[in-house]
Amino acid sequence: MSTPAIRIAPSLLSADFARLGEAVRQCEAAGADLLHVDAMDGHFVPNLTVGPLVVAAIRPYTRLALDCHLMLAHPERYVDAFAEAGADWISVHVEAVAHLHRLLERIRTLGKRAGVVLNPTTPLEYAYEAIPYCDFVLLMAVNPGFAGQEFIPGVLRRIERLREFLERHRVVRDIEVDGGIHAGNLAEVVRAGATVIVSGSGLFRGNLAENLQHFRRLIADAVQQAPRPKGSSSQ
Ligand code: DX5
Ligand code: ZN
Repeated sequence: MSTPAIRIAPSLLSADFARLGEAVRQCEAAGADLLHVDAMDGHFVPNLTVGPLVVAAIRPYTRLALDCHLMLAHPERYVDAFAEAGADWISVHVEAVAHLHRLLERIRTLGKRAGVVLNPTTPLEYAYEAIPYCDFVLLMAVNPGFAGQEFIPGVLRRIERLREFLERHRVVRDIEVDGGIHAGNLAEVVRAGATVIVSGSGLFRGNLAENLQHFRRLIADAVQQAPRPKGSSSQ
C-alpha cells in the first residue's frame, strides 16, 4: 500500500475562459499536480460549460494530466470523444449511468484512469460496488453545477468512511474531493483521507501561485498532525 503526496487539482471553472490557455500554463507554473475540467450539459446539472473541443484546445498548453469530471446525463456517449481530445482521468456520476461497470471498463480500455463520482447524499455503497472497476472515487462536497458554493460539512464523514472501507479491504484508490474547498477547511479534508484536492474559487481568487503554495503548506501540516491516509495510488 503506497502513501503518495496529496495532489492539488485547480478547477478551471474558476479561470478566465477568454484566456484559458494562459490559465492552464499558470496552473502548471504554480505547481499544480493535475487540472480539473468540469463538463456540464444543462441536463444532469443546471449549467453548461465545456466539451471535448475545449479539452483538445487546452491539451497542447500543458503536460499535466487533464482530469475531466463529466456532469452529463449520458456520459457513455462522450467518453471516447473526451479520451480522443486528450483527457487522462475521466470520471462519471453514478447517478447518471445505467451500466456503470460497462462504462468504467470502456474508460480503462481507452487507456484512461476511470473515476466514479457521488453527489453529496448518494449512498457510499454505490462506490463500494464499483471499486474493482475504477481507479479513483470523487466525492462531491457541493451539489454539482457551480463554482463558489459552500462545502457541505457532512461530507467529511463520508471521506472518512470511504477511506476506512479502502483500508479494511486493502485496496489502493485515490479519494478526490470537489467543491467548496479553501484554505479554511483544507486541513480537515486532508485529515479525513482525501488524496486529490479540487479547488476552483479557493485557488483562483487572488493570486493563484500564492494560494497554491499556501495549500501545500496547509497540506504538509495536516499530514504531520494526522496519520497519513493509506491506500491511495502513486500514479
Ligand atoms: C462544481 C464543480 C467543481 C467546482 C469547484 O460542480 O464540479 O469542480 O468547479 O469549484 P469551487 O472549488 O469553487 O467549489
Ligand atoms: Zn468538478
